[in-house]
Amino acid sequence: MADKLELNVEKGLLEETPANVLVLNLYEGVKIPSGATGSIDIALNGLITKFVIGQEGFDGKFGSMYTLQTYGKIGAEKILLVGMGKAKDFTPNRLRELSAKVIKKCKKMTNAKRVISVLHGAGIGGYDPELSARMITEGTLLGSYTFDKYKTDKKTQKVNEFVIVDMDEENCKKAKAGMKKGKIIASAVNFTRDLSNEQPSYATPSKLAEIAQSLKDVEVKVYDRDEIAKMGMGAFLGVARGSSQPPKFIHIKYNGSNQKLIQRKIAIIGKGICFDSGGLDIKPPSSMLNMKDDMSGAAAILGVMSVMKDLKPSCEVHGIIAACENMPGASAYKPGDILTAKNGKTIEVDNTDAEGRLTLADALCYACDLDVDEVVDLATLTGACVVALGSVASGIMGNHQPTIDKLIKCANAGGEKMWQMPMFEDYKDSLKSDIADMKNTGSRMGGTQIAGLFLQNFVKKVHWAHIDIAGTAYIEKPQNEFCKGATGAGVRTLINYIMS
Ligand code: BES
Ligand code: MN
Ligand code: ZN
Repeated sequence: MADKLELNVEKGLLEETPANVLVLNLYEGVKIPSGATGSIDIALNGLITKFVIGQEGFDGKFGSMYTLQTYGKIGAEKILLVGMGKAKDFTPNRLRELSAKVIKKCKKMTNAKRVISVLHGAGIGGYDPELSARMITEGTLLGSYTFDKYKTDKKTQKVNEFVIVDMDEENCKKAKAGMKKGKIIASAVNFTRDLSNEQPSYATPSKLAEIAQSLKDVEVKVYDRDEIAKMGMGAFLGVARGSSQPPKFIHIKYNGSNQKLIQRKIAIIGKGICFDSGGLDIKPPSSMLNMKDDMSGAAAILGVMSVMKDLKPSCEVHGIIAACENMPGASAYKPGDILTAKNGKTIEVDNTDAEGRLTLADALCYACDLDVDEVVDLATLTGACVVALGSVASGIMGNHQPTIDKLIKCANAGGEKMWQMPMFEDYKDSLKSDIADMKNTGSRMGGTQIAGLFLQNFVKKVHWAHIDIAGTAYIEKPQNEFCKGATGAGVRTLINYIMS
């Protein structure tokens, strides 16, 4: 849920600034710290060097922490000394992750209402203070996230204020700019997490449409069932048939900050299966358990579109979602049914649980008809991708290598991991149907590639990349800056991509 935590930058001397907790750092192996940690050590008569490092053996390993009292010698009551790991290994991504660990630790401390922190990594020869502040902000806001909407006993927020303190005017200015960006990015990611974490009976197709319509500075068109039928989206409608929740096709358009300067037109598509029961090919309980997350691609699109008003990119951005549920209701589509997609191609339903690609087929056709240059889709598409890459990396494939390379770069800069999967044409045969143009599933082996090859049938004339976030969108245990649950996978990648 949106955090009440306030983040700020203040100009001041660390020694004198009042706080409950002061966050300082130590690189691994350093015995006599310089910089902020060094000057605080002097103010504390060598407590850090002699006691914490010398006697207690604090070694600065990445993520290690040590708290000590200051007994009124400086403005802060306590110090949280944080291990940065080896200086040569320290990266902006590590700073983001570390900052998440720090806020989690502070939330567990007694009386940590006001926390102040140095601009980690931005010392002499270090990072740009803007980048450093941005990473600290992202990590702090992502790390403090919890989804407690449905807890009647909400644990009260223990940290009210997190402030970066620096005595240099210029550093503060840059840090403020970085913090502003970090807040925008974290808000998009946490917005997405909130939606993916929601119970499926709340986050319905209609709800997604309503949320889209509430976004600022964008044009939104929501198509209902009749209009979807008129557009010829037979594949999407087939999937939607088994549910009592009406499908919604959502098109969000951001016009670009300056119409005359538009150089790129991008469409981003998110798989929006608000619940995936598998349909008539129903899933076993353990596989169905987390299938509320099958709209994580759609949630990511909404998250990205929600910050267009703040980021104001120069390009035109279309956010597209074909939202429905995959349910085994009385009118459900059946194995053996033949569906006709928007581009006229016919698909024999081989397995009703391969529904995402059917909804995406029509969404891709729609996007390609928009006269855009680039189309990126984000989908919790295949269990095979979870097997191949686990929860750490999303799978990426597509029809244009430079687009894929650029997306991988944007992912890495945002703290996300992507790994390219091949799309070997050899597997095309397994999608062959005896009576229609294709089937919706092929062999189990190579399932992620086969899904990609299926989607390619609905792509024309654009640079296209498909990102499979089945393993990364929702995690079973804490990972990097994230707690268990939804991660907002793809949001930071797409934001970087749009802004690049
Ligand atoms: N939504 C699932 C994929 C999925 C699995 C997402 C695990 C997140 C975690 C998708 O609709 C699905 O059911 N895919 C099937 C395809 C199969 C029937 C060809 C799968 O991967 O088993
Ligand atoms: Mn499915
Ligand atoms: Zn699915």
